[in-house]
Amino acid sequence: MNGFFISIEGTDGSGKSTQIRKIEAYLQSKNHPFLLTREPGGTQIAERIRDLLLHPEYREMTAKTEMLLYAAARAQHVEELILPTLASGTSILTDRFVDSSIAYQAFGRELGDMVQVVNDIATGGKKPDLTIFLDLPPHLGIVRKQKEENHTMDRLELEANTFHEKVYEGFVALCQKEPDRVKRIDASQSVDAVFAEILRELDVLLMK
Ligand code: TYD
Repeated sequence: MNGFFISIEGTDGSGKSTQIRKIEAYLQSKNHPFLLTREPGGTQIAERIRDLLLHPEYREMTAKTEMLLYAAARAQHVEELILPTLASGTSILTDRFVDSSIAYQAFGRELGDMVQVVNDIATGGKKPDLTIFLDLPPHLGIVRKQKEENHTMDRLELEANTFHEKVYEGFVALCQKEPDRVKRIDASQSVDAVFAEILRELDVLLMK
Protein backbone atom coordinates (compact mmCIF):
# COMPACT_ATOMS: atom_id res chain seq x y z
CA MET A 1 0.00 0.00 0.00
CA ASN A 2 1.15 3.53 -0.78
CA GLY A 3 2.06 5.83 2.10
CA PHE A 4 -0.03 8.90 2.92
CA PHE A 5 0.96 12.26 1.51
CA ILE A 6 0.50 15.09 4.00
CA SER A 7 1.47 18.76 3.57
CA ILE A 8 1.55 21.54 6.12
CA GLU A 9 0.94 25.08 4.95
CA GLY A 10 0.72 28.49 6.51
CA THR A 11 1.80 32.08 6.22
CA ASP A 12 5.16 33.06 7.71
CA GLY A 13 5.14 32.79 11.50
CA SER A 14 1.99 30.65 11.77
CA GLY A 15 3.71 28.14 14.06
CA LYS A 16 4.28 25.56 11.35
CA SER A 17 7.66 24.32 12.64
CA THR A 18 6.36 23.74 16.17
CA GLN A 19 3.37 21.78 14.93
CA ILE A 20 5.50 19.75 12.52
CA ARG A 21 7.71 18.65 15.44
CA LYS A 22 4.62 17.54 17.32
CA ILE A 23 3.21 15.63 14.33
CA GLU A 24 6.59 13.95 13.90
CA ALA A 25 6.59 12.78 17.52
CA TYR A 26 3.01 11.54 17.18
CA LEU A 27 3.69 9.49 14.04
CA GLN A 28 6.80 8.03 15.69
CA SER A 29 4.76 7.06 18.75
CA LYS A 30 2.34 5.25 16.43
CA ASN A 31 5.23 3.49 14.65
CA HIS A 32 3.90 4.92 11.41
CA PRO A 33 6.70 4.93 8.80
CA PHE A 34 7.14 8.45 7.39
CA LEU A 35 9.67 10.85 6.00
CA LEU A 36 9.75 14.54 6.89
CA THR A 37 10.75 16.85 4.07
CA ARG A 38 10.33 20.46 3.00
CA GLU A 39 9.86 22.82 0.08
CA PRO A 40 11.65 24.42 -1.49
CA GLY A 41 14.15 21.61 -0.90
CA GLY A 42 14.13 17.98 0.14
CA THR A 43 16.78 16.82 -2.33
CA GLN A 44 20.30 18.07 -3.04
CA ILE A 45 19.34 19.89 -6.25
CA ALA A 46 16.18 21.38 -4.77
CA GLU A 47 18.13 22.60 -1.72
CA ARG A 48 20.52 24.44 -4.07
CA ILE A 49 17.53 26.08 -5.76
CA ARG A 50 16.23 26.97 -2.28
CA ASP A 51 19.44 28.92 -1.56
CA LEU A 52 18.83 31.00 -4.69
CA LEU A 53 15.17 31.59 -3.85
CA LEU A 54 15.55 32.66 -0.24
CA HIS A 55 18.80 34.65 -0.40
CA PRO A 56 17.87 38.15 0.81
CA GLU A 57 20.24 39.79 -1.71
CA TYR A 58 18.50 38.72 -4.94
CA ARG A 59 15.91 41.49 -4.88
CA GLU A 60 15.94 41.69 -8.69
CA MET A 61 14.46 38.19 -9.12
CA THR A 62 11.36 38.48 -11.33
CA ALA A 63 8.05 36.91 -10.34
CA LYS A 64 8.16 34.41 -13.21
CA THR A 65 11.71 33.34 -12.42
CA GLU A 66 10.67 32.84 -8.82
CA MET A 67 7.63 30.76 -9.80
CA LEU A 68 9.65 28.59 -12.19
CA LEU A 69 12.41 28.00 -9.65
CA TYR A 70 9.91 26.87 -7.00
CA ALA A 71 8.35 24.58 -9.61
CA ALA A 72 11.75 23.26 -10.74
CA ALA A 73 12.71 22.44 -7.16
CA ARG A 74 9.33 20.73 -6.76
CA ALA A 75 9.69 18.64 -9.94
CA GLN A 76 12.98 17.25 -8.61
CA HIS A 77 11.51 16.70 -5.14
CA VAL A 78 8.46 14.83 -6.47
CA GLU A 79 10.30 12.57 -8.87
CA GLU A 80 13.42 11.87 -6.83
CA LEU A 81 11.93 11.61 -3.34
CA ILE A 82 8.15 11.90 -2.91
CA LEU A 83 6.84 9.38 -5.43
CA PRO A 84 9.38 6.60 -4.70
CA THR A 85 8.91 7.05 -0.94
CA LEU A 86 5.12 6.83 -1.18
CA ALA A 87 5.40 3.81 -3.47
CA SER A 88 7.59 2.04 -0.88
CA GLY A 89 4.75 2.38 1.65
CA THR A 90 6.33 5.21 3.66
CA SER A 91 4.24 8.33 4.24
CA ILE A 92 5.47 11.82 3.40
CA LEU A 93 5.09 14.81 5.70
CA THR A 94 6.13 17.92 3.82
CA ASP A 95 6.62 21.44 5.12
CA ARG A 96 4.85 23.24 2.19
CA PHE A 97 3.91 22.02 -1.31
CA VAL A 98 2.03 23.34 -4.40
CA ASP A 99 -0.48 25.30 -2.31
CA SER A 100 2.37 27.61 -1.27
CA SER A 101 3.00 28.41 -4.93
CA ILE A 102 -0.68 29.14 -5.47
CA ALA A 103 -0.74 31.43 -2.43
CA TYR A 104 2.65 33.16 -2.83
CA GLN A 105 3.10 33.22 -6.62
CA ALA A 106 -0.46 33.11 -8.06
CA PHE A 107 -1.98 35.42 -5.42
CA GLY A 108 1.00 37.20 -3.81
CA ARG A 109 2.84 37.89 -7.07
CA GLU A 110 -0.43 38.05 -9.00
CA LEU A 111 0.71 35.52 -11.63
CA GLY A 112 -2.73 33.89 -11.69
CA ASP A 113 -3.64 30.65 -13.45
CA MET A 114 -0.26 29.99 -15.05
CA VAL A 115 1.06 28.90 -11.65
CA GLN A 116 -1.29 25.91 -11.53
CA VAL A 117 -0.42 24.97 -15.11
CA VAL A 118 3.32 25.03 -14.45
CA ASN A 119 2.90 23.11 -11.21
CA ASP A 120 0.79 20.44 -12.86
CA ILE A 121 3.80 19.86 -15.09
CA ALA A 122 6.16 19.81 -12.08
CA THR A 123 4.09 17.33 -10.05
CA GLY A 124 2.42 15.31 -12.81
CA GLY A 125 -0.80 16.20 -10.98
CA LYS A 126 0.18 14.53 -7.68
CA LYS A 127 -1.70 16.09 -4.75
CA PRO A 128 -1.47 15.57 -0.99
CA ASP A 129 -4.11 13.36 0.65
CA LEU A 130 -4.35 15.90 3.45
CA THR A 131 -3.22 19.50 3.71
CA ILE A 132 -3.25 21.36 7.00
CA PHE A 133 -3.47 25.14 6.65
CA LEU A 134 -2.41 26.93 9.83
CA ASP A 135 -4.49 30.04 9.66
CA LEU A 136 -2.91 33.10 11.25
CA PRO A 137 -3.58 36.57 9.84
CA PRO A 138 -0.25 37.74 8.37
CA HIS A 139 0.19 40.85 10.52
CA LEU A 140 0.31 38.56 13.58
CA GLY A 141 2.67 36.08 11.91
CA ILE A 142 5.27 38.65 10.94
CA VAL A 143 5.32 39.98 14.50
CA ARG A 144 6.00 36.42 15.77
CA LYS A 145 8.88 36.01 13.30
CA GLN A 146 10.45 39.32 14.21
CA LYS A 147 10.42 38.32 17.87
CA GLU A 148 12.31 35.08 17.18
CA GLU A 149 15.88 35.34 18.40
CA ASN A 150 18.62 35.18 15.75
CA HIS A 151 16.05 35.14 12.96
CA THR A 152 17.28 36.70 9.71
CA MET A 153 14.38 37.57 7.46
CA ASP A 154 14.54 35.75 4.08
CA ARG A 155 13.72 37.41 0.72
CA LEU A 156 10.00 36.60 0.94
CA GLU A 157 9.60 37.61 4.57
CA LEU A 158 11.08 40.99 3.66
CA GLU A 159 8.17 41.69 1.30
CA ALA A 160 5.63 44.41 2.14
CA ASN A 161 2.53 43.71 4.23
CA THR A 162 0.27 43.96 1.17
CA PHE A 163 2.13 40.98 -0.33
CA HIS A 164 1.54 38.88 2.78
CA GLU A 165 -2.15 39.88 2.82
CA LYS A 166 -2.54 38.63 -0.76
CA VAL A 167 -0.75 35.36 0.11
CA TYR A 168 -3.15 34.89 2.99
CA GLU A 169 -6.14 35.47 0.71
CA GLY A 170 -4.70 32.80 -1.58
CA PHE A 171 -4.65 30.22 1.21
CA VAL A 172 -8.19 31.10 2.25
CA ALA A 173 -9.33 30.70 -1.37
CA LEU A 174 -7.70 27.24 -1.50
CA CYS A 175 -9.54 26.16 1.66
CA GLN A 176 -12.80 27.21 0.05
CA LYS A 177 -12.00 25.55 -3.27
CA GLU A 178 -10.86 22.19 -1.87
CA PRO A 179 -12.42 21.77 1.58
CA ASP A 180 -12.08 17.98 1.55
CA ARG A 181 -8.32 18.15 1.18
CA VAL A 182 -7.30 21.48 2.74
CA LYS A 183 -8.21 21.72 6.42
CA ARG A 184 -8.15 25.19 7.93
CA ILE A 185 -7.04 25.39 11.55
CA ASP A 186 -7.10 28.54 13.67
CA ALA A 187 -3.42 29.02 14.53
CA SER A 188 -4.03 31.87 16.98
CA GLN A 189 -5.03 29.26 19.60
CA SER A 190 -2.57 27.72 22.07
CA VAL A 191 -0.01 25.26 20.68
CA ASP A 192 -1.85 22.34 22.29
CA ALA A 193 -5.27 23.40 21.01
CA VAL A 194 -3.93 23.73 17.46
CA PHE A 195 -2.28 20.33 17.73
CA ALA A 196 -5.49 18.69 19.00
CA GLU A 197 -7.26 19.89 15.86
CA ILE A 198 -4.47 18.63 13.64
CA LEU A 199 -4.66 15.23 15.33
CA ARG A 200 -8.37 14.96 14.57
CA GLU A 201 -7.66 15.38 10.85
CA LEU A 202 -4.63 13.12 10.96
CA ASP A 203 -6.48 10.29 12.68
CA VAL A 204 -9.25 10.37 10.09
CA LEU A 205 -6.59 9.88 7.41
CA LEU A 206 -4.62 7.20 9.27
CA MET A 207 -7.80 5.16 9.81
CA LYS A 208 -8.28 4.88 6.04
P1 TYD B 1 10.97 28.79 4.82
O1 TYD B 1 12.22 29.22 5.50
O2 TYD B 1 10.72 27.34 4.68
O3 TYD B 1 9.78 29.57 5.50
P2 TYD B 1 8.70 29.09 6.52
O4 TYD B 1 9.45 28.77 7.76
O5 TYD B 1 7.79 30.26 6.63
O6 TYD B 1 8.05 27.89 5.86
O7 TYD B 1 10.95 29.49 3.41
C1 TYD B 1 10.05 29.21 2.47
C2 TYD B 1 9.60 30.52 1.88
O8 TYD B 1 9.30 30.33 0.51
C3 TYD B 1 8.33 31.04 2.54
O9 TYD B 1 8.39 32.45 2.65
C4 TYD B 1 7.25 30.69 1.55
C5 TYD B 1 7.97 30.70 0.22
N1 TYD B 1 7.42 29.77 -0.79
C6 TYD B 1 6.87 30.28 -1.96
O10 TYD B 1 6.80 31.50 -2.15
N2 TYD B 1 6.40 29.41 -2.91
C7 TYD B 1 6.47 28.07 -2.76
O11 TYD B 1 6.05 27.29 -3.66
C8 TYD B 1 7.07 27.55 -1.55
C9 TYD B 1 7.19 26.06 -1.33
C10 TYD B 1 7.52 28.44 -0.59
